[in-house]
Amino acid sequence: MKIVIPGGTGQVGGILRRALTAAGHEVVVLTRRPVRDGDVRWDGKALGLWAEALDGSDVVINLAGRSVSCRYTAANLQAMMDSRVDSTRVVGEAIAAAGRPPRVWLQMSTATLYAHRFDAPNDETTGVLGGTEPGVPDYWAYSVEIATSWERAQEQAETPHTRKVALRSAMVMSPDRGGVFDVLLWLARLGLGGPVAGGAQYVSWIHDGDFVRAVEFLIGRDDFTGPVNLAAPAPLPQRAFMRALRAARGVPVGLPATKWMAELGAFALRSDTELLLKSRRVVPGRLLEAGFAFDHPQWPEAAADLVRRVRGGQTSMRGEQSPG
Ligand SMILES: NC(=O)c1ccc[n+]([C@@H]2O[C@H](COP(=O)([O-])OP(=O)(O)OC[C@H]3O[C@@H](n4cnc5c(N)ncnc54)[C@H](OP(=O)(O)O)[C@@H]3O)[C@@H](O)[C@H]2O)c1
Repeated sequence: MKIVIPGGTGQVGGILRRALTAAGHEVVVLTRRPVRDGDVRWDGKALGLWAEALDGSDVVINLAGRSVSCRYTAANLQAMMDSRVDSTRVVGEAIAAAGRPPRVWLQMSTATLYAHRFDAPNDETTGVLGGTEPGVPDYWAYSVEIATSWERAQEQAETPHTRKVALRSAMVMSPDRGGVFDVLLWLARLGLGGPVAGGAQYVSWIHDGDFVRAVEFLIGRDDFTGPVNLAAPAPLPQRAFMRALRAARGVPVGLPATKWMAELGAFALRSDTELLLKSRRVVPGRLLEAGFAFDHPQWPEAAADLVRRVRGGQTSMRGEQSPG
């Protein structure tokens, strides 16, 4: 198949690029800074020559969006919103204008759409969307608004010949340098992998191998449209999540951190505490119902697999070294 990946130069793009190329597909990446063979320049905002890459392709997987790992200043929040909504709108316009539109458009979304809650897991049918939870910082609602607007931009696209799926993905755990697992492992090695603010908040995650398999599954299932949760079936409290990571890496202790210590840490890492403190309890209702079987359903085993691959210098699931 010919698979076009707008925004495919980041962490998730690297995972998909390697796996889909290894599986024999032709992968084309749309980027603002083309460097590799198969890269096509676009600006993520307006139709241009790049749209020809989509015409005659089989699948589009749009990952573009300003990184959320930053301080949530007004300017950054606006850039997070605009880069997602604009790129999704223009991908829709390119598909609508194509003579031979792709069969399916997988659009990245996020598990952050769901409410900060502890009491029950969120699936696609009974899950509660966030934005009105009491006792959380006001700006958390804006992350939900970004996610909602992002999905709406895909919903509103008029692409009658192209199936549309929104990927409500949890954190994708891979051994890549600079990815979220790498950062967590680094904190654990420094002895900082303890509970944060009590550690009762849930962490939703998905192993990179299962992420790729779920994407392949959704490409192949013509009956799937709309939002789909991409998360392992067993989210767990942050305290237990970090304990399992320390066990996998052989780090005996992890210092607990209070909320204000998390603030300081997030500030030092130029990140935001929402990423640490929001309880994300998300489960893959639709995938499980359709019979999708996770290779790595439990975090302790998944963490051990990832640590093994970090030690072996392997970033891809199929064993080859990453080109970076
Ligand atoms: N990583 C995760 O675990 C995870 C989980 C759930 C959802 N997501 C979402 O999935 C997407 C991909 O994640 P990722 O971790 O691979 O992100 P990433 O590493 O930040 O990559 C996203 C890509 O988007 C492009 N981009 C950034 N700002 C842009 C802008 N203003 N206009 C157009 N393109 C822009 C960049 O490509 P160029 O600079 O090459 O143009 C960048 O490589 C993101 O939207 C993220 O929010 C990620």
